[in-house]
Amino acid sequence: MKNSKPWKFRIGLGCLALGAMCTLPASAQDAPDVGPHPAQPLKPMESHIGHVTGHAKDGKMDYRRYCAGCHGDQGDGNGENAQWLDPKPRDFTIATFKCRSTLTGTLPTDEDLFNTLGRGVTNSFMPVWNTFSDQQRADLVAYIKTFSPRWEKEKAGEPIKIPAEPAVTIESIAHGKALFTKLECWKCHGPQGKGDGPSASTLTDSKDQPIRPYDFSAGRDDSRFKCGSTNQDIYKIFMTGVDGTPMPSFADTIQPNDAWDLVHFLRTLQVHRHSKENDVLKAAGGKIPAYVEKSQAPASWSGNQGGGRPKLSASVRTDDFVRPGR
Ligand code: HEC
Ligand code: HEC
Repeated sequence: MKNSKPWKFRIGLGCLALGAMCTLPASAQDAPDVGPHPAQPLKPMESHIGHVTGHAKDGKMDYRRYCAGCHGDQGDGNGENAQWLDPKPRDFTIATFKCRSTLTGTLPTDEDLFNTLGRGVTNSFMPVWNTFSDQQRADLVAYIKTFSPRWEKEKAGEPIKIPAEPAVTIESIAHGKALFTKLECWKCHGPQGKGDGPSASTLTDSKDQPIRPYDFSAGRDDSRFKCGSTNQDIYKIFMTGVDGTPMPSFADTIQPNDAWDLVHFLRTLQVHRHSKENDVLKAAGGKIPAYVEKSQAPASWSGNQGGGRPKLSASVRTDDFVRPGR
């Protein structure tokens, strides 16, 4: 060795020269812990779906084989394929999920995750895993839950209560349209639900990735939503919100029965899909009538002479703004 002086000593000399500006060598605490780490013991996590109990240790093999390529070995959403995907695979370490039956901000139920696996996530690269047995899916759910400490500290949220669906009528659709206008769904989803509202191009998700609002008019007869295809599923989406995205929860704003009217209207925005709602609209001549709030309806609309049209609040004068694109 040419230079036998220890490096600390040389820095010490530098300190003398630089006086007060001297910086001390980084302490051992700041250095990374190099070298191999012993494997982390797997948490004994379970999932409960009906009579099936899932075990994390039994889900590990399937996860590594089928899921890690996108979701990453550590569940952080950084699998080797993630760079090519939009939207990005879910990061399980933060335990934020889009498809829940539970209120915004809470953990989904085991059953929510189990159903997501069986359904896949439409309009994304998340595949359908319905060839797995129920046991395999339950084990995978338990395994996913090992990635975030939230599952040890918090319970899953309570599933929201959904009242029985009322009949589809043109009045129900008209009221749904009034709500779509009043609650400004159109600002993101667009007046015809085409995903092209004035705010649409500005939206990003919680990971700063650009995200587009759902285009209701795209898709054919088999068009689905991210979190399911039934009317109950749509109800759940806007009442619980799509966590991790700008799509808000409306549970505090919309009354349960009003929510059904909104569901019925949203179906008419799916212009290519065969549905009860589109049949009712067709039978009504294809035009959604203006909604008049029952409490504010004048006793006699046509007999109101001299005073002009009865005064309606802004929220109910919606007839010409939102109209399905047909
Ligand atoms: C080809 C890539 C890919 C593979 C393979 C894959 N996923 Fe996904 N997964 C995704 C993407 C992308 C999303 C996010 C979709 C979105 O945000 O709309 C996702 C989302 C999810 C979600 C979250 C849904 C929600 O409600 O937010 C779960 C749970 C999930 N995946 C589980 C799995 C499991 C378990 C496997 C293996 C059996 C798997 N994924 C395999 C790409 C993949
Ligand atoms: C601030 C913008 C914004 C507003 C306001 C908004 N949405 Fe959304 N919405 C989104 C975004 C973004 C998505 C897509 C989320 C995703 O792809 O993960 C979405 C998704 C949805 C979905 C799910 C589509 C799917 O793929 O499953 C439904 C249903 C929906 N919105 C209904 C509504 C209704 C009803 C309202 C008003 C009561 C509303 N949205 C208001 C931004 C918005």
